[in-house]
Amino acid sequence: MSNRTITVDDRLYDYLCEVSLRETELMRRLREETSAMPNAGMQISPEQGQFLALLVRLIGAERIVEVGTFTGYSALCMASVLPPTGGLIACDVNAEWTAIASRYWAEAGIGDRIDLRLAPALDTLDDLIAGGDAGRFDFGFIDADKENYQGYFERVLALLRAGGLVAIDNVLWGGSVANPTKQDKDTGAIRAFNNALHGDARVDLSLVPIGDGLTLARKR
Ligand SMILES: C[S@@+](CC[C@H](N)C(=O)[O-])C[C@H]1O[C@@H](n2cnc3c(N)ncnc32)[C@H](O)[C@@H]1O
Repeated sequence: MSNRTITVDDRLYDYLCEVSLRETELMRRLREETSAMPNAGMQISPEQGQFLALLVRLIGAERIVEVGTFTGYSALCMASVLPPTGGLIACDVNAEWTAIASRYWAEAGIGDRIDLRLAPALDTLDDLIAGGDAGRFDFGFIDADKENYQGYFERVLALLRAGGLVAIDNVLWGGSVANPTKQDKDTGAIRAFNNALHGDARVDLSLVPIGDGLTLARKR
């Protein structure tokens, strides 16, 4: 198959940002603070944050569940465009990283829209389902440990209403998924996840080569 996706080199990436990014000063500061951390690479890119926010608006989402929050950039992007009645449940296990997130959410004036759950996300999602929240969410974002992607997907899908959307990050995993010499656990987990989703008749599907690869799956 010929390559129909344009190669985005640094110059073109800078151009893309220059003509389309509408990042707030607060979001930029959060990226700057995060960039000094050893795990900075885990943060989504600003154009991806803007894309997620656009999707949230497009489907008129009010209730969002996020799996993998880190220092809170993606949650900040998505929760900022929720109506005041909306809410985002943020799942993470790291108190130190999410303390940074909470600081920025408060400064953005959206702290009351975000409910941070510090626990293994599989447990939080199971609790939500057990508590009667199945079918009550509009949007899900999965961006945590790769080995649990299938488990996260199944639970988030249960939480979504029909027509709801789940976005799954890192599905191209730096290109490793298409490199047969890469046989590590995470690459294997993402490959298995991508393959399973390809044939999953419960969703409409598109794999978008933004950031590290973002799959969009709409619940039928
Ligand atoms: C790639 S980062 C998320 C980046 C974030 N979406 C952003 O925009 O900056 C992955 C996060 O998943 C969290 N995580 C890892 N294993 C987890 C688990 N079992 N349950 C919940 N969160 C987990 C990590 O603590 C980390 O903050």
